Amino acid sequence: MAKATRICCIGAGYVGGPTMAMIALKCPEIIVTVVDLNESRIKAWNSETLPIYEPGLFEVVKACRGKNLFFSTDCRYHVAQADIVFVSVNTPTKMSGVGAGKAADLAYWEGAARMIASVSTSSKIIVEKSTVPVKTAEAIAKVLRRNCPHDDVQFEILSNPEFLAEGTAIKDLTNPDRVLIGGKETESGRAAVAALASVYAHWVPRERILCANLWSAELSKLTANAMLAQRISSVNSISALCEATGADVQQVAHALGTDSRIGPKFLNASVGFGGSCFQKDILNLVYICESVGLKRVADYWHSVIQINDYQKHRFVEMVISSMFNTVSGKKIAILGFAFKKDTGDTRETPAIDVCHGLIADNAQLCIYDPQVQQDQIFRDLSMPKFQWDVPMLSNGAQVPFSSREIDRTVSVSSDPYKACAGSHALCVMTEWDEFAALDFDRIFASMSKPAFVFDGRNILDHERLRSIGFIVYALGKPLEPFLQKQ
Ligand code: NAD
Ligand code: UDX
Repeated sequence: MAKATRICCIGAGYVGGPTMAMIALKCPEIIVTVVDLNESRIKAWNSETLPIYEPGLFEVVKACRGKNLFFSTDCRYHVAQADIVFVSVNTPTKMSGVGAGKAADLAYWEGAARMIASVSTSSKIIVEKSTVPVKTAEAIAKVLRRNCPHDDVQFEILSNPEFLAEGTAIKDLTNPDRVLIGGKETESGRAAVAALASVYAHWVPRERILCANLWSAELSKLTANAMLAQRISSVNSISALCEATGADVQQVAHALGTDSRIGPKFLNASVGFGGSCFQKDILNLVYICESVGLKRVADYWHSVIQINDYQKHRFVEMVISSMFNTVSGKKIAILGFAFKKDTGDTRETPAIDVCHGLIADNAQLCIYDPQVQQDQIFRDLSMPKFQWDVPMLSNGAQVPFSSREIDRTVSVSSDPYKACAGSHALCVMTEWDEFAALDFDRIFASMSKPAFVFDGRNILDHERLRSIGFIVYALGKPLEPFLQKQ
């Protein structure tokens, strides 16, 4: 298997789609097929409206689709044909049973492995692209071996975790900091690592293709996400201290970031981190630590999530206490619902918890996001979360809310000015560039007074807003007298 000519990827999601499109673009001699059980997703990948919003993605897909990049629901056929099978299925947090609320649910992975085993008549490299618990490769190897009817078919399992971030996926894939490939330290393991490395070597400099053993590669991915999230929780915890002391979190972060040992990235204080990965992967890490008896280590990482929850609750409490201890019946504009800019993804977005907190105090919300559709917002706000994650807000209310309550308290606008008109406050939840360019004189004129701005991302010009007449809360910045507790 020296030279791979056919790659199949199971899972046409945020990772599978862009990653395979990039491989197809950079390796014109390789036929890449992305398969998924979800028909509508595959239909969208084959259309002019891709199922995910990602800057630059459409151009890459268009350049290769129908040439060496294909999207199909015929999983069995394309897996059977492939030399290398990437598995990029979802690995969510388990919702019930042993490890519920923490452990990774590997049911999709196992389903994919059973299917691979049943259709394979030739040897294959199986690549873990999904983020999985350490030692998953061992379990998957057993599933593959025991379910493949052909003794001469060999499976070599590699761990090749994906480090792309949403919103910058194409940039990250084009110029990755590193590509990590973990494999068994055997002759066939090393050959498989070399085969996959040669795919990436089409465009990634060799020195950035890192090789490791399987368990190190699996654990590196969980740890990378945990450490990124830990930086955000660290700076967010300091944002609370800044507000209490008159320091400015952006100045503190700048001072820290210029220390070359700390570095400037991932030090933006925010209303909280979101996204499909950070919380899920930390919980998974916590679960693994607990499973091997490392309770102190588990508690350490769990505190990263606790600070994240604290930050979201703190924001809600600031909104409510500033507005004379009640937002009941008041219209509040929510600017941004995606978990970060340049994506339409809302998985674990902090906006959900903030909206829930405000709805619990009977606010009327009007939400605007340039990429998130109304039905998605309604679904997110009425979707139950699992028990451990149901925040107990300061007023004792449990969330989430029924669809009826959401219908009664939430509206969605496709125009930010309409979302703000008549509102008592606006809350910035996502750092979309367009928010900084809004006409705030116009917005101020259309709002009830006093007009509040709660900037959960520190992207607005706060001095200018104050000069217009707004009362401004900027996260981690000195509080103006109006907002200070007496
Ligand atoms: P996703 O939910 O967007 O996509 C997963 C896809 O797999 C879905 O379309 C689903 O229908 C499909 N699928 C599940 N089981 C299948 C099966 N047996 N056969 C065929 N298709 C199947 O998920 P995602 O965001 O792309 O994440 C995938 C993995 O990558 C996860 O483990 C995640 O933790 C990891 N990851 C995600 C990101 C990110 O930014 N989203 C970044 C790095 C790593
Ligand atoms: C993350 C990892 O960055 C990526 O390497 C991994 O492959 C998947 O998980 P993603 O979740 O797509 O990527 O986005 P990321 O840019 O990491 O942001 C995650 C969350 O942290 C967002 O809600 C973002 O707004 C927030 N964030 C990020 C901050 O609050 N402050 C920061 O300084 C950086």
